Amino acid sequence: MSDVLVRCDNLVHVYGTPGAEVAALRGVDFVVREGETVALLGPSGAGKTTLLWHLAGLLRPTAGTVEVAGKRLAGLTPRELANVRLRQIGVVLQNPGRNLLGYDTALGNVLFAQRPTRRSHASKKRRALALLDSVGLGGVAHRVAGQMSGGEQQRLAIAIALANAPTLLLADEPTSQLDPASADAVLGLIKQANAEFGTTVVAVTHDAAVGEVLGRTVTIRDGRVGAEGRSGEDYVVVGRDGTVQLPPEMHDALPPGSLARAVRHDHGVDLRRIYDSNAGSDDDEERGR
Ligand SMILES: Nc1ncnc2c1ncn2[C@@H]1O[C@H](COP(=O)(O)OP(=O)(O)O)[C@@H](O)[C@H]1O
Ligand SMILES: [Mg+2]
Repeated sequence: MSDVLVRCDNLVHVYGTPGAEVAALRGVDFVVREGETVALLGPSGAGKTTLLWHLAGLLRPTAGTVEVAGKRLAGLTPRELANVRLRQIGVVLQNPGRNLLGYDTALGNVLFAQRPTRRSHASKKRRALALLDSVGLGGVAHRVAGQMSGGEQQRLAIAIALANAPTLLLADEPTSQLDPASADAVLGLIKQANAEFGTTVVAVTHDAAVGEVLGRTVTIRDGRVGAEGRSGEDYVVVGRDGTVQLPPEMHDALPPGSLARAVRHDHGVDLRRIYDSNAGSDDDEERGR
């Protein structure tokens, strides 16, 4: 198995001040291996963006740790962290306009992103134009980024994030403002970076199709990892305190708040509802077993 690139250990994040706290992450354990492509799914407000910002070194954990490439991000000096972020991590933030220099052209933005690399200007320009081409912006390379549409800025943001062939690409809803064809182009580019440079990818998405393309899905619910999916199969995740989040589509079978009996057997544990205050008692069924 390949090496671990990202490791979150019991990661907790609380926003706000005492008296007005929001616990956005409540103990996330999460490992990504080199070369993996992972989709982070989950309802709005679940903590996906907060988790991504931690992986990018943009937030400090309230508790727990985040390691990228064997380095604990909170232990780095500001200069070391800036270096890791510049050379190893490509980030696409949820708000497209925050990923770019609004006064510079699309081409200028992708050139600027390559400032830590030593290649010649001509070679940087070739790479920039090829990236812009692959997201359908080849024809508007000389347009000022701040004047582009949200969708164009989103595609430009991906080109910027991939400019240095990063070790780790972090993208927050990178296709949210795109039509299906542009979304396919962006996904294609992400997959290509993974195949060509071994770039490891963690992308937040609402789009089940993105999850399918990326292969591994991790579902965040209420600040925790609730479920994992691998090549189409879905699994629940048992938390370190033994908690399990039932998938929402099973809430009719075992509504939140109902009582269930945990029955151990050879391959695991079954949960059997014994009482449901809305539908009366299921005791008969229970006794019949
Ligand atoms: N800067 C902030 N200050 C206070 N609360 C925040 C802030 N950012 C996010 N939150 C809260 O943290 C929780 C998780 O937010 P977020 O990580 O953006 O979720 P998601 O990306 O899954 O929609 C939400 O309840 C949200 O309202
Ligand atoms: Mg978000």
